[in-house]
Amino acid sequence: MIPESYIQELLHRIDIVDLIDACVPLRRAGANYVACCPFHSEKTPSFTVSPSKQFYHCFGCGAHGTAIGFVMEYSGQGFVETVKELAARAGMPLPEDDATPRDGPRIQALTEVMARAAKYYYEQLKRSEKAIAYLRQRGVSGGIAQKFGIGYAPEGWQNLASAFEDYSTASLQQAGLVLRGEQGRLYDRFRDRVMFPIMNPKGEIIAFGGRVLGQGEPKYLNSPETPLFEKGREVFGLPQARQSLRDKNTVIVVEGYMDVVALAQHGIGNAVATLGTATTAAHIQKLLRQADRLVFCFDGDAAGRKAGWRALENSLEALPEQKTIGFVFLPESDDPDSFVRERGAEAFERLAAQAMPLSEFLLKELAARCDMTSAEGRARLVAEAKPLLGRLQTPLLRLQLVKRLAEASGFSQAEVERLCDLKPVARPAPARAARPPPSLLRPLLRLLLQKPELARRVPLEALPAHSEETRAIVKLCSMAPESGGSIPGYAALLERLRGSEEEAVLREAAAELMRQPFAEEDIDAEFNGAIDRLQEGERKRAFARLQEKVAKLGVAGLSGEEKAHYLRMLGRPGSAAG
Ligand code: UTP
Ligand code: MN
Repeated sequence: MIPESYIQELLHRIDIVDLIDACVPLRRAGANYVACCPFHSEKTPSFTVSPSKQFYHCFGCGAHGTAIGFVMEYSGQGFVETVKELAARAGMPLPEDDATPRDGPRIQALTEVMARAAKYYYEQLKRSEKAIAYLRQRGVSGGIAQKFGIGYAPEGWQNLASAFEDYSTASLQQAGLVLRGEQGRLYDRFRDRVMFPIMNPKGEIIAFGGRVLGQGEPKYLNSPETPLFEKGREVFGLPQARQSLRDKNTVIVVEGYMDVVALAQHGIGNAVATLGTATTAAHIQKLLRQADRLVFCFDGDAAGRKAGWRALENSLEALPEQKTIGFVFLPESDDPDSFVRERGAEAFERLAAQAMPLSEFLLKELAARCDMTSAEGRARLVAEAKPLLGRLQTPLLRLQLVKRLAEASGFSQAEVERLCDLKPVARPAPARAARPPPSLLRPLLRLLLQKPELARRVPLEALPAHSEETRAIVKLCSMAPESGGSIPGYAALLERLRGSEEEAVLREAAAELMRQPFAEEDIDAEFNGAIDRLQEGERKRAFARLQEKVAKLGVAGLSGEEKAHYLRMLGRPGSAAG
């Protein structure tokens, strides 16, 4: 757990405008900054960044968050990873915590080693006729080679010694670039290979894949797992694909480095490759944060279908509602690289657009395992589907599958559900009822967001119960330190409420505020007015309760205190009438 005070300090030190501007150039617009939204495609800018409140909001797609949220969305990294990255940027030491070992300096040293090696390999490519010829023969242009940072590790055993002052430094070995032989001699892992740098979402090089030029074993030699590189989480080509992922809102997942490169060469920029491993749930989660649709593209042979099935199994739990996964199986002898070179980009795009939906692939594969002409076989189909359906988190997709299983098996939908032991999936929170925001509470919430110090002066007992705004206001006020210390700003508040019930209403209020802030000089008057009206409202509600009691029991039914109160209220001009 990262302490909250740490998050507050971090948000305090980072300027969201600088941070975002480095990724998405911002333009000043009044008190805020705007740009075309990096999270959906649009022509007129509705992505807005508030320098005073340190958050962003897109009026087009609703994306909303702090500096931390931005980096998470933009890079696809998790919370802890993001906090670490921002902390390094802000020069803050990481909080002392067993769960987050302080490996910052080591990681940084390794990252530097990898960057330097990549630069060296890249330079060497320019000098190697045969490596250039190899790439050219495979249809890779200079521009694409540069885009992917493709390089060449020359022949010879200690080439890296010319790129690093100290060839025997431990970092080179930790980075997996240098090995120690039996006699203790150090030598380069990659020799006479075309080098494909693998980058993390930030664009830092974390590993390499090196291909032999022509025949030879292994065809691809990869970096070992290192503190920088965990195979099952990373993909090849993500930073290069980012813009295109956004434009197309689709990510194509292929198997090979050269598939990604060849597709990019033909103008299909939204492809990434898993690294010689099965597609994991972590991959899928990471990629579906960048686009709403994921299309797997496998070779058309038996191995491809098997890989496809494993990807399907790993997708089931990772698939969020409203995201779709499709499967393409290429003709038997093709991979995406050969396919796009022979048939062109349009033909490939068509395949991707017509990808087989996950539900269809699942059913087809299961049906192929059962004898669908017999009753036993059809029952077996349902039995085989059972463990898979149980893993799906998305009610809609599950319903769809149950329906298709029912059609295919001849059982009724209810029977399929019973056979599969399906309990109703936890329903997603119902959409917030469309009702106009209470005219009084919403402005009060906005006032508090604009000037958090006011929280100390809110009479909580006067807030009407059962309102989202009330819950948010109470939460906000509970954050005001009694002793009068500083009150956290909106960004800190948003991080504290990440995932809570109150988050949605706060986001809405903050977005409204962004469009129409209160004039600073009016805030106190507005606040006092809102509080007066609130208390007036509470008085009326109290009076109405007393009146009801009197109607039932007569004045004699009131306690002494209530009676005094009732009489006082009766005498108040305005109250009794209202
Ligand atoms: P493939 O054998 O399908 O090769 O491996 P490819 O991508 O078509 O390569 P080219 O076109 O012959 O150059 C697919 C992926 O599996 C991993 C690599 O990531 C490769 O891109 N792989 C394959 C290895 O890691 N090592 C190997 O020896 C072979
Ligand atoms: Mn290939």
